[in-house]
Amino acid sequence: MDSKGLEMKGISMVFPGVKALDGVDFSVKKGEVHALIGANGAGKSTLMKVLSGVYQNTAGEIFIDEQKIEIHNPMDAKKNGIVIVYQEVDTALIPHLSVAENIMMDYLIGELKGIFIDWKMIQREASETMKKLGLDIDVNKLVSELTLSEKQMVLIGRAVFHKADYLILDEPTAPLSVEETDRLFEIVETVKNRGVSVIFISHRLDEIFKICERITVLRDGQLVGNYLTANETIDTIVEKMLGRKLESTFPKHEVEIGGKIFEVRNLNGEGGVNDVNIHINAGEIVGISGLVGAGKTELVKLLFGATRRHSGEVVLNGKSVAPKNPAAAVKDGLALVPEERRREGVIVQESIETNSTLPTLKKYCNGPFMNAGMLRESALKTIRTVGIKAPSEKQLVSKLSGGNQQKVALGKWIISDAEVFLFDEPTKGVDVGSKAEIYKLIGGLVEKKKGVLYATCEFSEILGLTDRVYVMYNGTIAAELVTKNTNEEELLLYSTGGGRDE
Ligand SMILES: Nc1ncnc2c1ncn2[C@@H]1O[C@H](COP(=O)(O)OP(=O)(O)OP(=O)(O)O)[C@@H](O)[C@H]1O
Ligand SMILES: [Mg+2]
Repeated sequence: MDSKGLEMKGISMVFPGVKALDGVDFSVKKGEVHALIGANGAGKSTLMKVLSGVYQNTAGEIFIDEQKIEIHNPMDAKKNGIVIVYQEVDTALIPHLSVAENIMMDYLIGELKGIFIDWKMIQREASETMKKLGLDIDVNKLVSELTLSEKQMVLIGRAVFHKADYLILDEPTAPLSVEETDRLFEIVETVKNRGVSVIFISHRLDEIFKICERITVLRDGQLVGNYLTANETIDTIVEKMLGRKLESTFPKHEVEIGGKIFEVRNLNGEGGVNDVNIHINAGEIVGISGLVGAGKTELVKLLFGATRRHSGEVVLNGKSVAPKNPAAAVKDGLALVPEERRREGVIVQESIETNSTLPTLKKYCNGPFMNAGMLRESALKTIRTVGIKAPSEKQLVSKLSGGNQQKVALGKWIISDAEVFLFDEPTKGVDVGSKAEIYKLIGGLVEKKKGVLYATCEFSEILGLTDRVYVMYNGTIAAELVTKNTNEEELLLYSTGGGRDE
């Protein structure tokens, strides 16, 4: 390779019971945008945490411009120009400080040991950094007032101010809208042109083909290889990633659709849900389409009793239901796989077993006695059914990879016996192979005559998976469409508030 750049050689990382990385080689050239991909649990985040000093590798060496460097902690990494933006953006910023203070954080920490702090300078520098990146954010604003994507931009601003030479972005686009993603890509282009190398992790392969010159593929903690994007296609890369061809993303399920099992009439409630009328038939997958912020999450939360209803009626199997909270909704026969898994979907300090059996705990109890064998059995079934990668069912969820945490959130409901399943962006952060598995599981639910409501901003999922779709715009239903008679253009039209002017 070029002599200019970063090289990791023979990196291994062992956790109790898990060999997360096994002699991995990885390199990025100066000023290159380089993709790091692999299935959930392949070792991407771990490799980047080694590089940014969060984990100590058990073997291997790191070089910059052919000089061996030592990284024992995050400060060492920063000194060498390596900066990481984690997916959990919130944990990396201090909410009650201003944007400027957050951007200049490391300078401030360094300077506190000195005599005085030049606040004017801090504001000016921060504001210039944001301007250089083409970002229009008031640096006097508190971080707590920013949207998620703005926070991401602040972190990138901070990294750039740092004169980062190597910028690591671990799944930065998962929570972003299409426009926000485009803006992020412009920033990536800007920093790249200034000679910064960017390491980009994403499960959205089309993004990788858009912005990355080279791709490194990991599988089960080992290097598969690195490739020039120009010589590959999404299919060839997926095959390398999974070690097999992906048959079809959307497996066909032929299900006879029955009568109405779920109906929502004139529903109004918290979060701006405005006069929603929808229904689901037995055996039907109904999509809720719409852009980020259209009100999809607010609607499913309201249906699940997580937020307050103002008016309207919900009928499940002929019975009017008005769950006051999620526990009541579960009793009524509803299940929800929520969007924000870390906050709402799973208890990360608990094991896979506890998480997966919690919603259905009563099944394993005989009076006060819990049947440990059955609990374990059921946890193992969940692990098998959704394909969770973990050393055992006792593993804490916090120690699983991001995508596998999502699968725990999903698995615990799939094995429950609800009548109607609400899914909110269930495949966010999930690798392509597992996505297909999840679609198959959902197909299995409707084969059992359950009803499925599937909220997503990915039009491809709506078109590939659902039978019928409601498009949301501004908290209300803008259109109802039969999936096989619609297309991406029409979905986009209604999602952006168009198509209603007669
Ligand atoms: N702190 C930890 N303790 C124990 N095991 C861990 C820890 N962190 C990661 N692992 C394990 O190491 C392996 C690699 O995880 P990693 O988070 O690097 O995967 P990933 O490729 O980033 O996956 P994803 O796409 O789901 O984010 C997984 O099997 C994971 O369970
Ligand atoms: Mg990860």
